[in-house]
Amino acid sequence: MSRVLLTATWHFGRLAVERAFNLLEQGAPALDALEAGINAVELDESVQSVGYGGLPNRAGFVELDAAIMDARGHRSGAVAALRGFRRPISVARRVMEVLPHALLVGDGAADFAREQGFEQEETLSPSASEQWLQWRETQAPPADVEDNHDTVGMIIWTPDTIVVGCSTSGLKWKYPGRVGDSPIVGAGLYADEAVGAAVATGDGDEISRVALCARVVFLMEQGSSAQDACDEAIRYLMRKRSDEKGTPPHAAVLAVRADGDFGVAASYAKFPYALHDGHSLTMGERDAIVST
Ligand code: GLY
Repeated sequence: MSRVLLTATWHFGRLAVERAFNLLEQGAPALDALEAGINAVELDESVQSVGYGGLPNRAGFVELDAAIMDARGHRSGAVAALRGFRRPISVARRVMEVLPHALLVGDGAADFAREQGFEQEETLSPSASEQWLQWRETQAPPADVEDNHDTVGMIIWTPDTIVVGCSTSGLKWKYPGRVGDSPIVGAGLYADEAVGAAVATGDGDEISRVALCARVVFLMEQGSSAQDACDEAIRYLMRKRSDEKGTPPHAAVLAVRADGDFGVAASYAKFPYALHDGHSLTMGERDAIVST
């Protein structure tokens, strides 16, 4: 294959990257490969933070957020608080391709998905339902643990293409209607054909408050390497949003510059990600940035 780089967040990023790389090898366009890679995670019932199998909001409904961006032409589409459809990244792609809009939410997003021929399905898995019923007994606030914000985010780079997408069920037990970073251009993802792309995972409320991915791409535009841009953007988040004890919000970001330079940074230890350079797939683990 000609030069290519694929990267995706978390352990399940392996699934997304494997699926996408397989399609690229067969000659599929990068956007198709990205969508299929993210679909693989969305449809994996064992992943409790993305698509079918994702944990519901406090009212017991699974509300899904996703966005896709094609650096060429600076095109994007997104859906938020989407109920009843298991592949929100595919609906987001249709928003990008069919509508003049950047983001549809709630009932409007579901109406659009139906109009576009997507099948309405149960999105609450038996396991997620059971966990929600247990939570309802105590209504304990979720601990800020890793599995609470695990977005699948993926970037595919080739010398003439950069596409980026992400999909999540968001914060478990969230208030109905809560929208995280993932469907917000500039927060959960960003791409600029001349510069590169970034995608985030972690506490979506905090990532949104600092427009994390726009910052990464802006720093690369100013001349930073992808690694320096990721490090500095995470440091910025930590400076602005750490709590009174100095504990930073959970966040991690992946970036690829237009020349294929790769970077990754996280505000906490052992953030796992998948990286495929066209020859082999490796699972990396990024340590936390400690100094701000
Ligand atoms: N990053 C996913 C969320 O907090 O919604």
